[in-house]
Amino acid sequence: MPTPRDVKSFIRTIPDFPQPGIMFRDVTTLFQDARGFRMAIDQLLHPYAGIRIDKVAGLEARGFILGGAVAHQLSVGFVPIRKKGKLPARTIEQAYALEYGEAVMEVHDDAIQPGDRVLLVDDLLATGGTAEAGVRLIEQLGGEVASTAFIIELPELGGRKRLEALGLDVHALCA
Ligand code: PRP
Ligand code: ADE
Repeated sequence: MPTPRDVKSFIRTIPDFPQPGIMFRDVTTLFQDARGFRMAIDQLLHPYAGIRIDKVAGLEARGFILGGAVAHQLSVGFVPIRKKGKLPARTIEQAYALEYGEAVMEVHDDAIQPGDRVLLVDDLLATGGTAEAGVRLIEQLGGEVASTAFIIELPELGGRKRLEALGLDVHALCA
């Protein structure tokens, strides 16, 4: 009998990408495997049975792949939170720092209604800078972050502590 695989076993690590010293967790090997992808989506959804979620927001880029599948399963709408300059209509923006650089995230200003309970999804939680930018955008539009969900967290970079300090719920499948 082959040993059952867990989500982590589908993720590969690429040293020195996108710059020297970064151990890049590559989830494309999880996404491209039918069992792995289904397992990941099922496990991302697991804590939210019976919880009110009005929308799923996904962080560019891999949060789009995961968030789209999660939103479909929950039968709710999907909101893309994108790097600056990609969204066509009126946006609000939030600058943030990440493990390797700086960036600005945007969301359409009509994407979330006041009172919406939003599940924020991404592939990976490192410093938490990207997720915090997403949280700030959702909250600026009057949304409430119901929870945050990730495939993988890098605990040594402090993202969970950062989000939990903001009073947020953090769900990660592996570290
Ligand atoms: C990665 C990852 C998260 C972010 C996490 O995206 O997909 O979005 O970093 O890092 P943080 O917790 O330190 O903010 P990246 O910035 O590499 O952008 P990409 O998805 O466009 O490749
Ligand atoms: N984003 C920030 N740090 C990362 C890492 N080590 N692997 C993949 N994405 C990341």
